[in-house]
Amino acid sequence: MALTYQQSRMVRATIPALKEHGERITSTFYRNMLTAHPELHNIFNDVNLANGRQPRALTAVILRFASDLNDISELIPRLERMCHKHCSLGIRPEHYEIVGKFLIAAFGEVLGPAMTPDVHVAWTKAYWILAKMLIGREEQMYRAFDKSWTDSAGAGGWRKFTVLKKVREAEGVFSFYLAPKDRRPLPGFMPGQYVSARFEMPGMGFSQLRQYALSDAPRAEYYRITVKRDRGMQVRKAGMVMSINPGLVSNLLIDERQRGDEIELSHPAGEIFLDTESPSSAPLVLISAGVGLTPMISMLEYTSEMQPSRPVSFVHGAQSEMPFEQHIRGLKERMPRLSVNVFKSRLADASLVGVDHEYDARVDLAAVGVQDLHLDHGAAEYYICGPEQFMVEMSDYLVLKGVSMSRVKFSPFSTGELEVKETK
Ligand SMILES: Cc1cc2nc3c(=O)[nH]c(=O)nc-3n(C[C@H](O)[C@H](O)[C@H](O)COP(=O)(O)OP(=O)(O)OC[C@H]3O[C@@H](n4cnc5c(N)ncnc54)[C@H](O)[C@@H]3O)c2cc1C
Ligand code: HEM
Repeated sequence: MALTYQQSRMVRATIPALKEHGERITSTFYRNMLTAHPELHNIFNDVNLANGRQPRALTAVILRFASDLNDISELIPRLERMCHKHCSLGIRPEHYEIVGKFLIAAFGEVLGPAMTPDVHVAWTKAYWILAKMLIGREEQMYRAFDKSWTDSAGAGGWRKFTVLKKVREAEGVFSFYLAPKDRRPLPGFMPGQYVSARFEMPGMGFSQLRQYALSDAPRAEYYRITVKRDRGMQVRKAGMVMSINPGLVSNLLIDERQRGDEIELSHPAGEIFLDTESPSSAPLVLISAGVGLTPMISMLEYTSEMQPSRPVSFVHGAQSEMPFEQHIRGLKERMPRLSVNVFKSRLADASLVGVDHEYDARVDLAAVGVQDLHLDHGAAEYYICGPEQFMVEMSDYLVLKGVSMSRVKFSPFSTGELEVKETK
């Protein structure tokens, strides 16, 4: 049911105080919720809870939604991203009851006496308007999932896969070829989409879920993911290099999962993809850094098989070794309109500079040039994936050169960021 005019005013009146105490809300909300429901540790990313990214992202969306209930058009892309993430994690309608209860209780703690019974009713209504929008969209997505994943309740479940092959692609980067244990053909996905992988964490007593982009074109027999070891912070102590807070899942996956081992995956999801249902023939510009090349490889691979004459520009920044480098360059034989520009910040051999568009620098789009960036086309499509600052710099350059933001798509590998840039 919609909020009355009076209720909207009550909700809006509390927003400045809630924003001011945002950090307190996010810490009390999750602490109390996870104490009462420790099973939710199996769903939430422990690291993003500890650093506050996840709580901040959720609270920010709710406050933004409530601040202008009549105009949520700007929020729509964010909602779509949340729903894809939620479905990839198996979030169910009953989870919304729990989140709503503890979130509004945290609002109450911050607002004190200002959280009158009427304000409480108004906030509960506002929360449920948003929650129902998300639940509705998520139900729709779960219904469209391949039935090998859906459980009896109809929500997303986990499917068991076996590691068919593990391949070293570069220093600290490995591909896993994953075949379904039930041997039934895998459903397709849109290049650019990802899966969540679920792991029991030794010594932690709960599972952790992480997303990995599908790094090959869709194949009925296997999915491929390509994972970079997250070493954490490197410090030198007594002449030795030590890792502080090494990534939980990437290290476990790379060190502990070998050919023949089992891995559980969610159904493919993700709102940023190459639309293979109504394919465009406009130039495709794929810009990535580091392991951000994984969704780009999937798009490139798909295009090389299905639209080999489409103009594609692959721009990548690596430290030294680049995963799939030879394979990508080799695709030029099949794709006459493929251009490859690789920037290495630690080029091993200085004589390579300028050869085959290889540069000894960080990615510099000005060096790539108008033609390879298809700046004069007017309908070229741009996909960017890499660290946040990288994505911002790349898109700023494109915008400066007259590219409309509607043609630029970002695939962030982290939670709740790029909010401002996406809507500019
Ligand atoms: C849609 C999507 C697609 C993705 N695709 C890929 C992909 O194709 N390939 C890929 O390799 N990755 C991908 N990722 C990233 C991946 O999901 C994981 O985030 C990544 O593997 C790191 O997970 P982890 O468990 O190893 O690290 P985590 O344990 O989650 O740690 C993450 C970082 O936090 C730091 N950290 C942890 N604890 C602390 C602390 N107390 N203080 C300070 N810092 C701390 C760690 O040092 C580390 O750098 C993708 C992410 C998304 C959202
Ligand atoms: C109205 C309710 C909710 C809102 C507004 C909301 C909002 C968000 C947002 C903004 C993100 C980050 C998306 C991204 O950047 O990729 C997110 C991710 C997530 N949400 Fe929700 N959410 C809601 C309900 C829930 C519920 C009910 C659960 C489960 C109990 C849940 C669990 C998660 C998890 C586990 C993630 C991924 C976190 C991570 O990767 O760190 N959310 N949500």
